[in-house]
This record gives sequence, structure tokens and C-alpha cells, in this order.
Amino acid sequence: MKVFQSLLLFCLLHYNLALECEVVPGNLKQIDAGVGLIGGVNNDNEVFLLLGNEFRKINVTMKHFTVGPAGELAVNLSNSVFKFQSGQFSSIPVTFKQVDAGGDQIIAGVTPLDDIFCLNKDANNIGPSGNFVWVQLAGKLKYYSCGPYSCWGVNAAGNILIRRSVTGASCGGSGAFEAVAGALSMVEVASDGNVFGVDIQGNLVQRAGITISNPPGSSWTIISICPNGHKHVTYDLGRLYVICSDGSIRRCI
Ligand SMILES: *[C@@H]1O[C@H](CO)[C@@H](O)[C@H](O)[C@H]1NC(C)=O
Ligand SMILES: *[C@@H]1O[C@H](CO)[C@@H](O)[C@H](O)[C@H]1NC(C)=O
Repeated sequence: MKVFQSLLLFCLLHYNLALECEVVPGNLKQIDAGVGLIGGVNNDNEVFLLLGNEFRKINVTMKHFTVGPAGELAVNLSNSVFKFQSGQFSSIPVTFKQVDAGGDQIIAGVTPLDDIFCLNKDANNIGPSGNFVWVQLAGKLKYYSCGPYSCWGVNAAGNILIRRSVTGASCGGSGAFEAVAGALSMVEVASDGNVFGVDIQGNLVQRAGITISNPPGSSWTIISICPNGHKHVTYDLGRLYVICSDGSIRRCI
């Protein structure tokens, strides 16, 4: 037992030491990173992009921002969705409270009633003027995020669900949602397949054991970065971006 405890302690310490974090000036409620870009929104629904070590405000009012292989998208205060194209945010004919651009050029999102939709790569690449044919996925989620081969979501009760075999041509993947053990308030899949989340108590967690042949992985690992709890998380190109409960921002390697 003692040996096991020492080993466990060593692993936890080792894990924490492996992450070097710095404070990035600013205060946000939501953040998303993808294809090398990092953006987020604050409590006043102002949108910021990280340029070097500084969050610069862009002149739009949105409550949610996402960036990834599917483009840069945002949601305004009345749940209208916008995609950044030709130098400006253009409205897309759909109503979401949260949207995600992290899949293989597919868009995924959830409506104010927690209905779940996705848009295949070809339809997304036609642009906002195209006739978007959204695919509705059976079920209810309050937050949904896609990676290269699977999408993860959480429902109103905090249950975690995964959708496998998601591709650019088949944004709904194969089969239905499968339950994953645990309870989260939000979950984000990175472009490399890594999955991070924040649980109901404000703990930051990472899913261990994820592989292409085992997309659900094996267990949740707690990572401590903020002194007083965590609010939001995103990961891209080897960097973890965390919003603490007080809105302060950490960037970790
Ligand atoms: C920001 O946008 C508003 C509304 O579109 C516009 O009136 C204002 O001039 C813009 N401000 C800047 C600094 O571009
Ligand atoms: C959100 O965008 C839609 C579509 O452009 C617009 O009609 C609506 O007024 C916007 N809502 C807010 C709060 O700006």
C-alpha cells in the first residue's frame, strides 16, 4: 500500500511539474484554440484574439467563440451564428447557443433547447450563402465539441457522451451517442484528439488512454492549474489554455 501511495504521489507531482504555466493578462469566460489561433469572450461578450502575449479586442459582440479546421465562428446574444469569411463575420442561417469548429472542417452546435446539429465539410465550405443542410443528431446536449475522429458532449445533467467515427463527409459519425463515465460542465476535444473538461466542482480533467482505436479512452485525470477552481479549457498545438474561476487566464506547456 505504501509503495502504491508513493508511486501515486510521484505520478501526480510528476504530472504537475510537467506543466509549466504562465498568466496571460486578461479576463475571459470562454476560450477556444485551434489551427494555431486562440480567441475568447469576456463577461461583457467582447471578443478577444491572442496575439503574442496579449489578448486584443475585436469589434464584435458575441457570447461564444470557436476556431478550428472548420473556420472561425461565433454566437451572438440572440443565438445567431456567424462565420468569419472575407474579412468579416457573416451570419449563418442557424440558431445555436454554442458552436464548435474543431472537427475535420465540419461545424457542430447545440440549440437553446439542447438539440444537436452538425454540418458536413462540403456544405460548410460552400459558405454562408449556401443552402446549409444541417444533420440533426438524436439526443440533447448543452455543450458539444468535435475533434479529428470523435465528438464529445455534455448534457444538462452533466452526463458525458461521445460520438465515434465522425468524418468530414459524415459529421454524425456512426451509430448513436455512447455514455462516458463522469460528470462535466464542459468538454473540449482538441485537433489532435486530446480531450479536456471542467467538472461540476470546478476541477480540470483530461481524458487518459484515448487512441484512434479507443476514442473513449480509459479514465479522467485531474490537473490542478488554478488556485480556486477552473471555468473553461482548450488545447491546441501542445499548449493548454485554462480560464480560472475568477476569469484569469493561464497558458501551460
Ligand atoms: C465597432 O462597430 C460598431 C458597430 O458596427 C461601429 O459603429 C464602430 O465604429 C466600430 N468601432 C471601431 C473602432 O471600429
Ligand atoms: C444577432 O444576429 C442576428 C442576425 O444578424 C440579428 O438579427 C440580431 O439582432 C443579433 N442580436 C444581437 C443581440 O445583436
